[in-house]
Amino acid sequence: MEQYVIKGGNKLVGEVSIGGAKNAALGILAAAIMTDETVTIENLPNVRDTRVLLQAIEGIGAKVKYVYNNCVQINGGSISDMIVDYEYIRKIRASYYLLGALLGKYKTSKVALPGGCNIGSRPIDQHLKGFRALGAEVEIEHGMVSTKAESLKGAHIYFDVVTVGATINLMLASCLAEGDTILENAAKEPHIVDVANFLNAMGANIKGAGTDVIRIKGVSRLHGTTYSIIPDQIEAGTFMFAAAATRGDITVKDVIPKHLESLSAKLQEAGCEIVEGDDWVRVIGTDNLKSTNVKTLPYPGFPTDMQPQMAVVLALANGASMVTESIFENRFKYVGELNRMGCNIKVEGNTAYIEGVEKMTGAELDAPDLRAGAALVIAALAAEGFSCINDIEYIQRGYEDFEGKLTVLGAVIKRVDNEHDAQKFKLLVG
Ligand code: UD1
Repeated sequence: MEQYVIKGGNKLVGEVSIGGAKNAALGILAAAIMTDETVTIENLPNVRDTRVLLQAIEGIGAKVKYVYNNCVQINGGSISDMIVDYEYIRKIRASYYLLGALLGKYKTSKVALPGGCNIGSRPIDQHLKGFRALGAEVEIEHGMVSTKAESLKGAHIYFDVVTVGATINLMLASCLAEGDTILENAAKEPHIVDVANFLNAMGANIKGAGTDVIRIKGVSRLHGTTYSIIPDQIEAGTFMFAAAATRGDITVKDVIPKHLESLSAKLQEAGCEIVEGDDWVRVIGTDNLKSTNVKTLPYPGFPTDMQPQMAVVLALANGASMVTESIFENRFKYVGELNRMGCNIKVEGNTAYIEGVEKMTGAELDAPDLRAGAALVIAALAAEGFSCINDIEYIQRGYEDFEGKLTVLGAVIKRVDNEHDAQKFKLLVG
């Protein structure tokens, strides 16, 4: 099993280029199978989640060709199978976008039902409610969800909760339906807009993405296109918070600063200096981090995917802070690991009460999920001494060459797969 060995204590300084948004990519890759023509997708993050979804797409018979590391061509003309097995869904929940994409294109789909995951139970009732509203019969049997329709007809769908997944799945399922669909209480995340822009580039007619009402006029067919994915808000945010935690000075490049506003605002409250350009944001850390409070909310609120990274920064701030999680019920699993590093954090219900400490010390840590794993890496980089982080396959789901990018910024980090190499690295950088 691979792990990161990290020697903490260095300020991270320099520039880092941010890749394409993983969560946009997952919707876009699924959407790409909805035409029989070839689609070229650029700025694709080459991470575990996108690779697994591409395998699932190949598994149903589509052709997938990497043009280079961050560019892929997909042709959905040869799809022969509407069934996506549990093998893929257990590795990556977002394979369920194929449910909407296949239903939209072929009027039938069958995808293994995702269970809960490490951050919560994550029901998909809103996806299924939407498919039914479009006229599909939806059944759950033997761990699979199947959808089937003679034809799909536009509908007025009101989501009971703001959900990224269901908003994307319903845009996919409805863009080839007859007539108009209105999605109300839709999610507004930048990647919703990106998936809508991509579908429009393929010939769909979607308006209002980025607001809470999305209007979709059904079209009869979609065509090929070339499209470049937006920058990853969460990857950028992770490096911005690494600058704050290590009291460093990092410029994230190739980003859309507007998408990072809720993060920049919190870093300023914590005492960091923020400088913004057209496509970059610089975070200048401080030796005097200040406490503050944060609550996760749907976009444009503070993203739940940045909650653990924020907690690491506040764990090193002067005074008491509160972090409230309002999206997922089980997103504080990393707190025990931070306390083992010397932090002082108590969780009650959906709030973490953080009493800042002067320093953290390195420890052997287990990454509980993707973003919490990244947060533990930041904590280890800010801590005194060595840390080993296990279960880093979670981190590899969403960060491309994380250790490489961190090393360029001055981090002392190595990915190893055996104890001997871990010891060798420790002796080397000792
Ligand atoms: C997506 C992101 C994830 C991010 C999350 C919230 C992807 C691949 N993943 O996850 O990184 O943390 O948005 O920004 O884009 N819910 C229901 N019923 C449903 C669907 C959702 O009750 O049918 C609930 C969920 O349990 C959760 C909330 O709605 O409490 C938001 O979930 P949702 O926005 O759908 O998250 P995901 O799309 O799964």
